[in-house]
Amino acid sequence: KPTNSIYTRQDVAKHKTLADGVWVTYKTSVYDITKFVDLHPGGDKIMLAAGGAIEPFWAMYAVHNQEHVYSILEEYRIGEL
Ligand code: HEM
Repeated sequence: KPTNSIYTRQDVAKHKTLADGVWVTYKTSVYDITKFVDLHPGGDKIMLAAGGAIEPFWAMYAVHNQEHVYSILEEYRIGEL
């Protein structure tokens, strides 16, 4: 899987279901988290961020502000905005 592609926010917004793939952004990076959805410790709340930025949600759920969480996210990076 390429990890150096350039995407638009519109591309990301088209990926918000398990069928189409679930993409999110963090800062200027793009992540395909489809395979992580079922592994998420917070359950399907993760789908609220599908197709968009995770920052507003992670601001509400500070449990994500840990190195190990960022390291999980990085495993799913597919490119940049
Ligand atoms: C917990 C990852 C998105 C809500 C966690 C944990 C991880 C994680 C690793 C466990 C942290 C720990 O206990 O050390 C992610 C990733 C996300 C994401 C990689 C996006 C790519 C979201 C979103 C929401 C959310 C969008 C809410 C709208 C929660 C909640 C917990 C949690 C409520 C606590 C679960 C519990 O301990 O009962 N997440 N998360 N997460 N997440 Fe997420």
